[in-house]
Amino acid sequence: MPGVFQLSVDERLDHEADRLEALGIPAVILFGLPATKDEIGSENFAPDGIVQRALRRLRARHPDLLLITDVCCCEYTTHGHCGLIRDGTVDNDATLEILGRVAVSHAEAGADIVAPSGMMDGMVTAIRTALDSAEFQSCSVLSYAVKYASAFYGPFREAADSAPAFGDRRQYQMDPANVREAVLEAGLDEAEGADFLMVKPALAYLDVIRAVREKTKLPLVAYNVSGEYAMLKAAAQRGWIDERRAVLEALTGMRRAGADAIITYYAAEVAGWLQESESTT
Ligand code: PBG
Repeated sequence: MPGVFQLSVDERLDHEADRLEALGIPAVILFGLPATKDEIGSENFAPDGIVQRALRRLRARHPDLLLITDVCCCEYTTHGHCGLIRDGTVDNDATLEILGRVAVSHAEAGADIVAPSGMMDGMVTAIRTALDSAEFQSCSVLSYAVKYASAFYGPFREAADSAPAFGDRRQYQMDPANVREAVLEAGLDEAEGADFLMVKPALAYLDVIRAVREKTKLPLVAYNVSGEYAMLKAAAQRGWIDERRAVLEALTGMRRAGADAIITYYAAEVAGWLQESESTT
C-alpha cells in the first residue's frame, strides 16, 4: 500500500523508529516476515528470528519506545493458518504451547507487550503462564479478544504472504453478524488475565467497540486494519475525498465509540498533521 513498507533489521529500522519518535508516537507493533516458513512456524520462536532481532535492535537504540509484538502462527507457517494443523483443521490446544514459546522469546528479546492475534481459545492463559514461569511478569498481554473473519485484512495478507493455503479463518475468527459473542470473548480474555483488549477491524465494528467498552474497565484498543487504510488512501489519491478530514473523522469515530488507543497505518501521517496544526495555532 502507498506509504507502507516492509523493513529490514538495519539502518532502515533505526530511521523509521527515529522518525516515529520525533512525531511523538509512543508505541509500535511488530509483525515478522520470516525468510523461511514451515508446518509449525519454527522461525516464530527462533532466538535469531526476524522479530527477535528487530526487538533487540530497537530496545538498544530506542529505550523509551513501547515495543508490542504480534503473536500468531499465520505469517510463519506454510499453510498460513493461525494455529497448528492436525487432520485438516486447526488444533487449538496444540497451538497454545507454541504461542507461549513465542511470547517468551519476544519478552527475552525486549518486548514490553505481546499481542496474540490468532483467536485461539485459552491463548491468554497459556501466554500469561508461560511468561510468568520464565520470570517475565512485567511483560503485558494485549489480546486481540474480538477479531472478526473480515475481508478488510486483504492487503495485510498479501504483504505478509499469509493467506490460508486451504479453507478460511472462520473456525477461529468471529462471524461479522454476531455482537453478543464479542462481549463473551472479551469477558473470557479479561478473566484469563489480559491487560488490554482489542476489537478488530474498527470501522465496520464501532458498535462492537461500544459494547465491549461498556462491559470492561480494561484499556480498549481499536485496530484500524489494512483494508480500512486502503479504502481511504485510494479514494484520497483519486481526489475523491479530503484525506485529512476523512481520516481524522474515522479515527474520532473509534475514539467516540470507546477506544482508548488506536493501531493505524495512518499513525505517522496523523501525528504529522496534528503537529502542524499545533504549530499554527
Ligand atoms: C494475524 C493477523 C492478521 C492481521 C493482524 N494479525 C491477519 C489475519 O487475521 O488474516 C491483519 C492486520 C491488518 O489487516 O492490518 N493473525
